Amino acid sequence: MRRRSKLLVIVVVAMGVGFLDEPGSGYGMIRIAQQEHDWNVPTEAKTLKNPVAGDEHMVERGRKLFRTWCAMCHGDKGRGDGMVANSLEPKPTDLTKVIKNQSDGELFWKITKGKLPMPGFEVTLSEKDRWAVVTFLRRGL
Ligand code: HEC
Repeated sequence: MRRRSKLLVIVVVAMGVGFLDEPGSGYGMIRIAQQEHDWNVPTEAKTLKNPVAGDEHMVERGRKLFRTWCAMCHGDKGRGDGMVANSLEPKPTDLTKVIKNQSDGELFWKITKGKLPMPGFEVTLSEKDRWAVVTFLRRGL
């Protein structure tokens, strides 16, 4: 494993632990279990248009970003089998199974906000980069 990816894993795991340690979030794992798969995506987020959808370069840009920021959990091919996947509850989603039924806006919102143990990427990735990842999920996965 390259040093950079090792570092990323440490950061992500530390972020996860930080969330669970938040004051008032006792029984973190139980709470996560109860949330199940309800993301509560607002209707207006679902209709957001992907501003880079037609741009071929964005597929490759999204692929690189996905490898750096998502693959350790979701796996290089998005199948939910990344190297830390087994240590997570719930398990990372097999993205190849769920993206067909969702709009670009919905995926963008989920990536932006995250849902434990998945971190949100609102601060880590620019808006354009988050759309690039959505474009990769749609056209390059
Ligand atoms: C720390 C591990 C982790 C990382 C890093 C991570 N995810 Fe996730 N992701 C998860 C988990 C776990 C779920 C399932 C959450 C649930 O359903 O409760 C999930 C769910 C999702 C979903 C929603 C699937 C659905 O059911 O609709 C999308 C989309 C997604 N991830 C995309 C990404 C993308 C893109 C990245 C990188 C920018 C990323 N994830 C990074 C762990 C991760």
